[in-house]
Amino acid sequence: MRGIKILGAGMYMPDTVASNDWFSTILDTNDEWIYSRTGIRERRISEDKPNWYMASEAAKRAVADSGIDPSEIDLVLAATCSPDYFYPALSCLVQQQVGAENAAAFDINSACTGFINALDTASRFLEDDDYRNILIVASERLAPHCDYTDRTASILFGDGAGAAVVTKNDKPMWSYLSAKGDFFNALWCKVDQSRANCPLLKPDTLPEGLIDTEAKTHTLQMNGKAVYKFAVDAMETAVNKVLAKSGLTTDDIDLYIPHQANARIIESAVKGLKLPPEKVYVNLEKHGNTSSACIPTCLAELKADGRIKDGMTICLVGFGAGLTSGAIVFGQ
Ligand code: COA
Repeated sequence: MRGIKILGAGMYMPDTVASNDWFSTILDTNDEWIYSRTGIRERRISEDKPNWYMASEAAKRAVADSGIDPSEIDLVLAATCSPDYFYPALSCLVQQQVGAENAAAFDINSACTGFINALDTASRFLEDDDYRNILIVASERLAPHCDYTDRTASILFGDGAGAAVVTKNDKPMWSYLSAKGDFFNALWCKVDQSRANCPLLKPDTLPEGLIDTEAKTHTLQMNGKAVYKFAVDAMETAVNKVLAKSGLTTDDIDLYIPHQANARIIESAVKGLKLPPEKVYVNLEKHGNTSSACIPTCLAELKADGRIKDGMTICLVGFGAGLTSGAIVFGQ
């Protein structure tokens, strides 16, 4: 039986606060519009700290919180869609920074669903006797991806990192993971190969449905309405599917941690699923959407507040570019 226990959690947020009022100095927008449409007041921007630095700080804090020695970590999984390097993997940089000398390491990219996919992967490794402790870090530096002349998308995202150390547990876990590649062009960012100099290279062949003009190249592109519609449905479907697998009902869950994209998306899903709002943790007012880092930063805040307790049943649910989605239910 699969099961995971969170031994430790940690997070790192950059110092620089980008408030809604700051956005109103660079764009035709205002706090009232942003807050009422998204629930976000401010987010952090990493002016000079790369993704690997944020990821490693969050990871070190999670390892310290877990009480294990870094040498006891068997695997480092990093979820990111905004790495500093194509290679090495972000997880290898984190492994080196943390001193997890005995760990294997690889990355997972399913954008904002990254932590859910990484936790699911970790639980499967933990079924193997060779793996006891797994460090999962989800870290994003999206400021370099965002187009700060695009008032619809840039106001949503923030930088930050969250991490968790997980180990085996007798209590069960269930997951439901999904990808709908048909919606790949609802949220995308193209790799910048503009400085490639192989004389044989020709312009890229683009997948049908993707418009790549000079203005759009290499920055985050989003169809906000399409993502919104997908998100509410995907969260409800994922929670219903994972609960059906588990045989549990919504009442059996002590704590829900949804992906923190937009307060209105969360509210719609909460209403559709008839969840008690007091069981649903939301921190996006201060952080915005930090993509894969949203869920582990919630875990880190909750754990620091003593709100993650043994015996609890916790449900994580998320969605993101791909478009991907998924939910996990586990007993802590
Ligand atoms: N400030 C002021 N006005 C803005 C604005 C901003 N920051 N962003 C957009 N607007 C304007 C639009 O230009 C439009 O003006 P118009 O009617 O004159 O053309 C109007 O507000 C309505 O825009 P619209 O795109 O319909 O707004 P919306 O209610 O759909 O909200 C989002 C936009 C992005 C907040 C919403 O679609 C959303 O949250 N989508 C999901 C995105 C997401 O979660 N992405 C990450 C997934 S992991």
